Amino acid sequence: GMTRHYTFNIKYHNVTRLCHTRSIISVNGQFPGPRVVAREGDRLIVKVVNHVTNNVTIHWHGVRQIRSAWADGPAYITQCPIQTGQSYTYNFTITGQRGTLLWHAHISWLRATLYGPIIILPKRNESYPFDKPYREIPILFGEWFNVDPEAVIKQALQTGAGPNVSDAYTINGLPGPLYNCSSKDTYKLKVKPGKTYLLRLINAALNDELFFSIANHTLTVVDADAVYVKPFETDKLLITPGQTTNVLLKTKPSYPNATFLMAARPYFVGQGTIDNSTVAGFLQYEHPSHRSSSSIKNVTLLNATLPAINATNAVADFARKLRSLANAQFPANVPQTVCSKFFFTVGLGTNPCPKNTTCQGPSNVTKFSASVNNVSFVLPSVAMLQAYFFGQSNGVYTTDFPAKPPVPFNYTGTPPNNTNVSNGTRAVVLQFNTSVELVLQDTSILGAESHPLHLHGFNFFVVGQGFGNYDPNKDPASFNLVDPVERNTAGVPAGGWLAIRFLADNPGVWFMHCHLDVHTSWGLRMAWIVLDGPEPNQKLPPPPSDLPMC
Ligand code: C2O
Repeated sequence: GMTRHYTFNIKYHNVTRLCHTRSIISVNGQFPGPRVVAREGDRLIVKVVNHVTNNVTIHWHGVRQIRSAWADGPAYITQCPIQTGQSYTYNFTITGQRGTLLWHAHISWLRATLYGPIIILPKRNESYPFDKPYREIPILFGEWFNVDPEAVIKQALQTGAGPNVSDAYTINGLPGPLYNCSSKDTYKLKVKPGKTYLLRLINAALNDELFFSIANHTLTVVDADAVYVKPFETDKLLITPGQTTNVLLKTKPSYPNATFLMAARPYFVGQGTIDNSTVAGFLQYEHPSHRSSSSIKNVTLLNATLPAINATNAVADFARKLRSLANAQFPANVPQTVCSKFFFTVGLGTNPCPKNTTCQGPSNVTKFSASVNNVSFVLPSVAMLQAYFFGQSNGVYTTDFPAKPPVPFNYTGTPPNNTNVSNGTRAVVLQFNTSVELVLQDTSILGAESHPLHLHGFNFFVVGQGFGNYDPNKDPASFNLVDPVERNTAGVPAGGWLAIRFLADNPGVWFMHCHLDVHTSWGLRMAWIVLDGPEPNQKLPPPPSDLPMC
């Protein structure tokens, strides 16, 4: 592969949406941020220079980071933040992945404006396992806040109040015509008839899983999280924050007398409030004789149909359709036997309200928090990976993260009385090459809710999923160990469970968390430590000399 260099200057940039102008934090004055393009096997060298007053880190979401954990990016997990005036150069190779991923800030809520696509093309002499598309188009979903999102998360942490929701969803930074003061900020996808387009869909939103659909068009799903899947057709899909999905869009054979809405709207069954609004863009057929796009005023606008906001069954149906390609060229290396089994509850809970504060929780002396196995994870004040590598874990983290919940209960039924969680910076230690099975069980302590779980440093196979309580005596019989989807972010069903498997063959400290930022901030996160293997090529190299210090 070749080496590709990028420079990310983190700087302020004025952006106006919904008639509100804000000075946002951007990369190179672009919103959304610049595309990072590579072929499988290429090395990326990205110098990030911080010109703003906030601390910054950048995460290359879904990049495996094999023996390059120092370049992963989550603040206080693999690195200390890049402070004002400092820089850090991320250096990593894209190995065995092709498709679409995303990069985003991984500190506080800066992802609100710091995100962009990672486009991974096949190796030079390899082709796609589907017809070569005429054009490839990144489609990024995001959220727009009229206020500073940093103020929103500050309040959510202090009082456990559900966040003031964002003011719009966006497609490539644009809210579209269904919002006030926004019709000029509409994304337009201009196409020719009779062609195949590859849409690279990315959900970079902070807090919302989204349904997506294009009026009167069918989409063929071909890739999820930079892994090919068995192609299937659908008229709508669900994409959670952190997920990416490549779809083929076949345009109509001749010019239709219509413009088609492409739209996204949230899926949500949880606690708190949400903006149940719709971002829309236009799919427009460009007739060579109609140069002006004002001609769209004369054609019918066809609406996209989207599932209801709480359509949990539509979400589960879509998840079940995703299967690995699992052929000779792109095998699915599913661990067939497991050495370590874990059972983690994920969900919301409560913590005591700080003194002299009014809290929003089930009672006025509690605030919302979130946890894994009743541990609400606290970020340390120095990076765990540094502490681990230099043998200085004392006072930074402990390695006693529970393998199962402290007290078993009816997870999807009436919760027990004592649901207060404990705080801690606790990790699980895995020997190199451990094959892991992890069952993630949603709890209904404060109502069932879907959690898009993201694992850093690995892809995992989704071998099973179901509703209700996971039954270890019955459910494993239904596991798919042949062609399960392989990805880095998957939804734990609301009121249900998800079983994943992965091989811990990448030394380092790896974050795992809900990719809804409000849940992450409330503590729905933990860390795995994967030890070095015996061979020289199974060890984590020392950090680069410019690694930021805390
Ligand atoms: Cu996309 Cu830990 O994040």
